[in-house]
Amino acid sequence: MQDHRRKYLLQTFGCQMNVHDSETIAGILEKEGYIPTEDPEEADLILFNTCCVRENPERKVYGRAGDLKRLKEKNPGLVIGICGCMVQQEGELEKIREQLPHVDLVFGTHNIHRLPELLHRVEAGLRQAYEVWDVERAEKEDLVEGLPVKREGDLKAWVTIMYGCDNFCSYCIVPYVRGRERSRPLEDIIAEVTELGREGYKEVTLLGQNVNAYGKGLPERIDFADLLAALDGVPGIERIRYTTSHPRDFSLKLIQSIAASRKVCEHFHLPLQAGSDKILRRMNRGYTAQRYLDLVAEIRKHVPDSSITTDLIVGFPGEAEEDFQDTLDMVRKVEFDSAFTFIYSPRRGTAAANMPDQVSEDEKRDRIYRLIAVQNEISLRKNEALRGKTVEVLVEGESETSSALLQGRTRTNKLVLFPGDKDVLYGRLVSVKITEPQTWLLRGELV
Ligand code: SAH
Ligand code: SF4
Ligand code: F3S
Repeated sequence: MQDHRRKYLLQTFGCQMNVHDSETIAGILEKEGYIPTEDPEEADLILFNTCCVRENPERKVYGRAGDLKRLKEKNPGLVIGICGCMVQQEGELEKIREQLPHVDLVFGTHNIHRLPELLHRVEAGLRQAYEVWDVERAEKEDLVEGLPVKREGDLKAWVTIMYGCDNFCSYCIVPYVRGRERSRPLEDIIAEVTELGREGYKEVTLLGQNVNAYGKGLPERIDFADLLAALDGVPGIERIRYTTSHPRDFSLKLIQSIAASRKVCEHFHLPLQAGSDKILRRMNRGYTAQRYLDLVAEIRKHVPDSSITTDLIVGFPGEAEEDFQDTLDMVRKVEFDSAFTFIYSPRRGTAAANMPDQVSEDEKRDRIYRLIAVQNEISLRKNEALRGKTVEVLVEGESETSSALLQGRTRTNKLVLFPGDKDVLYGRLVSVKITEPQTWLLRGELV
């Protein structure tokens, strides 16, 4: 018998925040009777959850949504939707109306809970059901709790602990599209993680643009270190991760709390962004290269064998060759386990977009290649140090590249591939001896 339920195809761009929002969007859609599909030809709803942190993902959405015009001509019942960070930008709705008039549904990052109502409107044949609250409006509304969530896996779960960002790094659009910092109440987070532990989840990643700011604005006096301590005892959960933390706010108390906890993993993702104090100042990051080095030393003292990873931007306005050399210098001094490297992308409305001395595209590209080359060498060297060592791995399933191998991650968040039986080992913590370290992953065997 044919299934007549409506089918949705949801495509997600951007960071973990968006990935988790998509889990909520999928939860709502399925509660409304939709079922998922991968095939655009059979979809009744195609929805893009967008990112605008750099220009590239934005361009892709306009391209793909534009291409769907033809499909919609063939299938006029098809609903095309755009949500997420991109639509929160000033003037974006007008741009969508003008360039993508066949888009029926638009909702912002603060309007996800309004999706059922908007769906009813488009299902009733109303075109252009658009609802985007700006940051001021969102701030006046209470946080919406208890929306349905369809989680992507049954082992690892995302848990939002705070929304928004107040940092206004001068290159970054996130504070404009995600609004002001707001923390979820401690009890709600503990209840969610406890339920996840009960359902058999083994790992949680706490999400926020700046998790170190957790607790600000809550009635009780608690901070991120207190939250981690409270979650350390949740039964069933074996590993606690968090992202992203800001180097400026990483306190000694927090390092000590992580050192004392059993479940918080020995992985520190600390976006450095740049190595030159001049550029860090212009980025409004609130630390110097030396303070960052001191923090790294403190972390390595209290939490030995931890991994440290980072985000780096090349070609920020005013970055001269010597400033870039400072970034390379920091990379060599810290010896990051790995780094996400980005070419600076001017974002409309941010302070840096109007700064003088924008760096040429050629120069930016040249710098990122040089940066990646230096970092790759270090990544390999760091991994090489694990040869012959035994590490704890949470078995996540078959390798994405070879079904003959299983894959999982170390507590330090390194990918490990090894032979084993999925049916026996899935979801278990196993000991793997590293036999073949590579730049991006470790190969090994069960011990
Ligand atoms: N809140 C997190 C994540 C922000 S976005 C944090 O503070 O780390 C993830 C990364 O994208 C940033 O760390 C930064 O390295 C990069 N990024 C942000 N805006 C950018 C821009 N305009 N151009 C290039 N990279 C950018
Ligand atoms: Fe953007 Fe800075 Fe906030 Fe991160 S901390 S989201 S880089 S403004
Ligand atoms: Fe992109 Fe929004 Fe995340 S702009 S990086 S999806 S918060």
